[in-house]
Amino acid sequence: MAPRALDELPLFQSPPEGGPAVYEYFRRARAETPFVRDPNGMLVALRARMIETLVSDKTRQSETESTLAQGITEGPIFEFVADLVVCANGETHRRRRQPIARPFAFKLIEAMRPKAGAIAAELVQERLHAGPIDFVSEVAEQIPARIIADVLGIPRSDVSVFMQWLADAGEALGLIAEGRRPALEASLNAFNAYVDGLLLERRKRPRSDFLSDYVEATAASGELSEREIRAQIVGLILAGSDTTRNSICMILNALLHHPEQWRAFKADPDGLKRQVVEEGLRYEPVVTAIGRVVISDLELEGYLIPAGTPVILPIASMLRDPEVYADPETFNIYRTDHPRWSFAFGAGAHRCVGEALARVEMEETLTTIARLAPHTALVGEAPILLPGPIRSVSQMRLALA
Ligand code: HEM
Repeated sequence: MAPRALDELPLFQSPPEGGPAVYEYFRRARAETPFVRDPNGMLVALRARMIETLVSDKTRQSETESTLAQGITEGPIFEFVADLVVCANGETHRRRRQPIARPFAFKLIEAMRPKAGAIAAELVQERLHAGPIDFVSEVAEQIPARIIADVLGIPRSDVSVFMQWLADAGEALGLIAEGRRPALEASLNAFNAYVDGLLLERRKRPRSDFLSDYVEATAASGELSEREIRAQIVGLILAGSDTTRNSICMILNALLHHPEQWRAFKADPDGLKRQVVEEGLRYEPVVTAIGRVVISDLELEGYLIPAGTPVILPIASMLRDPEVYADPETFNIYRTDHPRWSFAFGAGAHRCVGEALARVEMEETLTTIARLAPHTALVGEAPILLPGPIRSVSQMRLALA
């Protein structure tokens, strides 16, 4: 049978604005059709079994298209996007990914576990029995910030400064609000200068740390420009911050809303930490969607997708696909049907470089809270994830006790 044209697909309304309603939207859509066209004409692929094809060599990562579409054709924002590993394809992608991927491998990152545990313990102990706290900024955000500062050899006192640059760099990757460009560019320039300083320092006085190894590896291969060398460091800091912060919040939130599983976790934190994180990432993924562009005409699920079509892969839908997960709408840390590689970290050539580090940070934070603050309780409204490709936590107040 000849494949069907995309305009035969049902038109769906846009997914709801944040919160858990997004899962209900995907549940209904997935049951009806493999793809949805939303009102902006975007093609959204709903089922988990489609992910391998859609991240294969039949598609490519979008590069600077969205920046160019905003009329930004040069300057620090354009250069930043153009230089990032996540916005590159083929050989350029390989060159940029290789020097950062090796030091972030599982075995090497395991050595960070005691440090992550110690940072989490310090943050929790300082706030124990202190009444309601802003968990997002006081604890969850501090874990990835302090760890990446340690990995890169940045003094603790500089962490709060680079947090603002970080927020601005994240904003620069999205849809830039009118009038914000000059401020974002100034901030990126300051961030770049700071990272240049770190790189220069390691060139002059190498230490036995990640940044010195990175400087040495990139110099030895000679494959990256100075701008690319710097952009990967800024990109690493950026990619590992909000993602990990928000995941810590939402996994803890899911546990606190399932008291039996929270009790079981407190009784055996080390035994259950891996399962808790795996299920928490499935249940409330903070990276809701990734995007790709089809390279040549592609037949998938009975439809013909013409070359050049941009496709959205909603991870949030794939992680609740009943073809993969039994009873997918239920949070169940005991489930045994997780695929070997969680979709929460993407798939294919661009699969997350920082997965091992993120897991160590999340596991150590959650086990620390279970041990030191077993009577922890939410105060006020439960957090929800706000709209966006990387979803932010609305707020999260809790008492550590
Ligand atoms: C819970 C935390 C995290 C989640 C859910 C997450 C998720 C993801 C996803 C879904 C992708 C694929 C993007 C795509 O295909 O378009 C990705 C890529 C990436 N992640 Fe993460 N990430 C997390 C933490 C981290 C950390 C801690 C780091 C580093 C310190 C990091 C660094 C990166 C980098 C550099 C890429 C781009 C890889 C490439 O393009 O080859 N991530 N991440």
